[in-house]
Amino acid sequence: MIFRPRRLRRTAAIRDLVAETDVRARHLIQPYFVTSQPGSSDIASLPGIQRTDLEATCRQVEADLKLGLRSVLLFGVPDHKSPAAEHSHDPGSIVPVVTKELKARFGTDLIVMTDVCLCAYTDHGHCGVVKDGEIVNDESVAILAEMALTHAQAGADIVAPSDMMDGRIGAMRVRLDEEGFQNTGILSYAIKHSGAYYGPFRDAADSSPKFGDRRSYQMDPRNAREGLRDALLDIEEGADILMVKPGIHNLDLVWRLREACLAPICTYHVSSEYSAIKAGERLGWINGDQLMYEQLVSLRRAGSDMIVTYAARDAVAKGWVK
Ligand code: PBG
Ligand code: ZN
Repeated sequence: MIFRPRRLRRTAAIRDLVAETDVRARHLIQPYFVTSQPGSSDIASLPGIQRTDLEATCRQVEADLKLGLRSVLLFGVPDHKSPAAEHSHDPGSIVPVVTKELKARFGTDLIVMTDVCLCAYTDHGHCGVVKDGEIVNDESVAILAEMALTHAQAGADIVAPSDMMDGRIGAMRVRLDEEGFQNTGILSYAIKHSGAYYGPFRDAADSSPKFGDRRSYQMDPRNAREGLRDALLDIEEGADILMVKPGIHNLDLVWRLREACLAPICTYHVSSEYSAIKAGERLGWINGDQLMYEQLVSLRRAGSDMIVTYAARDAVAKGWVK
């Protein structure tokens, strides 16, 4: 007798019946680059994504909500940069201003997540403050905690620290709690590798380091156990959700993290993962839409509960996901 697995692949209906994974609009988080420069502008290396001012952001979010996208992740493109990133915790800066307006307009229908990191706010472009050429940890953490608090005060549902300093989750949890923001969640960039993956993002946010690189704080891509260990520490410090980033390059870590803990897992389908597909599509070499969808499926199958992706809007607008 021949065993015939093809019986369960015979028709689309049967394939759907036995499908183990799916991608839904509810799983997707759309990133936004919010700016105080009026209007909106394209980002050459991130096709389809724009920098948007307050009003353009609100209009786009309204359209996304109608499509069924309920989560946004806000990145600031600020106009003030300084060595100690003072503008990062200014309630008048663009991220708190946009957060406040979005929560006023859309209330609990919308989940507002905010990036907490200093790189777009420091004049040197590092994710923490610099002393004698070194990115110093504890001083940076104190500023990051103020930044998280500022976002919480503006109404952010979830703050998402991406800086990779040690002890920042615990410091933020304490700071938020002591100011009465027990309900503000923390999505920790728990496993975040250094490397070339974030190039298009740094164009968008104008956040490239002016000297050196990020290897003294972001993780070494040769390591897996290092990230798992840090992720478990983040849970102890009070993280609600753990992120693995970049997603497609770390499917092994998504899987292993899922086995290692019970917290929800978010993956970041990062800028170069998205832009590489867009570039191949432009050259006419690959089917971009299909490949994008297949990557989102892989992220879900490996164990992501939710995915940050520049393709979120396309995914629902083009009907790849419902
Ligand atoms: C800021 C931050 C980065 C990304 C998310 N938050 C850039 C970096 O660490 O240099 C990258 C996201 C992407 O590439 O899409 N620290
Ligand atoms: Zn940063």
